Amino acid sequence: MSNYHIKNLKEYFNVYEKSVKEPEVFWEEIAEEHFLWHKRWDNVLSWDFTKPEIKWFENAQLNITENCIDRHLRTKKDQTAILFEPNSPSEDALHISYGVLHDKVNQMANVLKSKGVKKGDRVCVYLPMIPELAYTVLACARIGAVHSVVFAGFSASAVATRIVDSDCKIVVTSDGANRGAKTIDLKGIVDEALKSCPGVETVLVAKRIHTEIHMQSGRDYWLAPLTESASTECAPEIMDAEDPLFILYTSGSTGKPKGMVHSSGGYMVYTAFTFKNVFQYREGDVYWCTADIGWITGHSYILYGPLANGATTVMFEGIPSYPDCGRFWEIVEKHKVNQFYTAPTAIRALAKEDLKFVEKYDLSSLKVLGTVGEPINEEAWHWYNDNIGNKNSPIVDTWWQTETGGIMISPIPYATPTIPTFATLPLPGIQPALMDENGKEIAGNQVEGRLCIKFPWPSIARTIWGNHQRYQDTYFSAFKNAYFTGDGARRDAAGYYRITGRVDDVIIVSGHNLGTAPIEDTINEHPAVAESAIVGFPHDIKGNALYGFVILKDTGADRDQLRKEINQLISEHVGPIAKLDKVQFTDGLPKTRSGKIMRRILRKIAGGDTSNIGDTSTLLNPEVVQSIMDEVI
Ligand code: PRX
Repeated sequence: MSNYHIKNLKEYFNVYEKSVKEPEVFWEEIAEEHFLWHKRWDNVLSWDFTKPEIKWFENAQLNITENCIDRHLRTKKDQTAILFEPNSPSEDALHISYGVLHDKVNQMANVLKSKGVKKGDRVCVYLPMIPELAYTVLACARIGAVHSVVFAGFSASAVATRIVDSDCKIVVTSDGANRGAKTIDLKGIVDEALKSCPGVETVLVAKRIHTEIHMQSGRDYWLAPLTESASTECAPEIMDAEDPLFILYTSGSTGKPKGMVHSSGGYMVYTAFTFKNVFQYREGDVYWCTADIGWITGHSYILYGPLANGATTVMFEGIPSYPDCGRFWEIVEKHKVNQFYTAPTAIRALAKEDLKFVEKYDLSSLKVLGTVGEPINEEAWHWYNDNIGNKNSPIVDTWWQTETGGIMISPIPYATPTIPTFATLPLPGIQPALMDENGKEIAGNQVEGRLCIKFPWPSIARTIWGNHQRYQDTYFSAFKNAYFTGDGARRDAAGYYRITGRVDDVIIVSGHNLGTAPIEDTINEHPAVAESAIVGFPHDIKGNALYGFVILKDTGADRDQLRKEINQLISEHVGPIAKLDKVQFTDGLPKTRSGKIMRRILRKIAGGDTSNIGDTSTLLNPEVVQSIMDEVI
């Protein structure tokens, strides 16, 4: 039996037990057998959740790109590493072999170096899903620079906030992005963002949509001429296992986004291990994760996890509905995809379309289906299982977070029996606990509580960039000696976990985490607005949509016009994803005596569930509840 590759339920239980009884031995064996290190660790793990400080493979040395690229060259130089499928089906797919990937990454690494980027420097990557995105991310890792990928759907001010927070001196972007039939002016967004980022000295621009764009002399450079003339050899920077590999921003319930910092060694070991097991990847398989590399799912399960296993990973530039709603299935047939990993929101959207979009294609290559990002409802699960998996591809409902780096709770396909809406069992090394509101662990099964993790795992984020105190406050202060996830969960009679959703002020819309505070702050910037509160309400496709309660200074203003202006502001400051589906203008908001908005009540009203509004006795202004319910929008 190999600890690295679990093939059945008995093996899972054995491996899990070992991973809990002897975590250090367990991870040490995996690290030793499956990866290339320049120097061995002195100590497998040291940790203290009260500080909090977590170190895996202390003083070991490595470079993750040698593990993801160089070591496969002997046997897989010509095998496809990244299979790039363009936005338009009429453009040919690009099979990027491990050999070519090596050369492209090294050329990009040399370009970054020539622009003065050194080990430890932060590089902002604001690129669409084109090969240059993968090359840039890996090139940063090659030279020890810390990549900060910003999803290319974020607005100029969201980009600026992230550039300033991590003090990036260089931005890599493109002239624009294809998005179905539309194009997006990425460079224009960067130009706008850089007006408030005086620290940025260099902008490298990949060509994708070939439009005329503004290039600022002395700052902006076209990428292609630089990479083409660069050497295809670049010695990997030797990194300490605990050196930061990347920063990735995620929304918090309050304040600015949190730059989660991930390490090099532990992150590599854990993403590679989980990729192998959760997708049961075998040599020769073609694996496809539809996420964007701008999110953690893309980092861990388009790039690092698959490449560390020498896999073939599909990278798709487009969207599921272009040129029609059969695009995903067309790609599955065309590339004979074996493992397919997507978000419930995409499944729900496609399930609404005519089944002929599915039936047109041969999906018999599929062996494993995955979902991530939000709870999958039972109806969507069955549609996925029946129509895409033909009832014989297990669905892995994978629960994890930007902060966890890798998948935490998930079935192992062909081993763990699945139940719709259950993420099922913790992966090896993961020790979940459910806590009650007083911070006590709830023992036994058939219980519900707040989901915590009691023991460190190799890919846990090590800090929040520039704000270790916030890291401690957010994740390690609610419960003693445990990492708090922000999610609620239920454990059934068999010990299976079902994630019930966020228990904080984060709302997940179409699989994207949105903090309420930054959206409310934006709305409040409108001159006509006095105060606002945002809650989520159930939505057929997005899972949740946003509902805004807004108090106006000037109640005489044109309300439809105001709704438009509020959404325009949100689009510019946060991004179009955060636009409100409904805006209710109101005279008051339910508040506790300490001035906190009681969102529980607003959630009920937004969801149309006003029959049992719950206890309002602690409110400062209980009368406001009825008046909000009486208002029409
Ligand atoms: O609430 C959980 C939900 O997504 C949150 C993490 O979001 P993010 O950091 O953007 O990472 C998403 C991709 C890993 C979690 O706290 N979530 C994620 N996966 C699931 C889920 N909720 C239910 N079931 C899941 N499988």
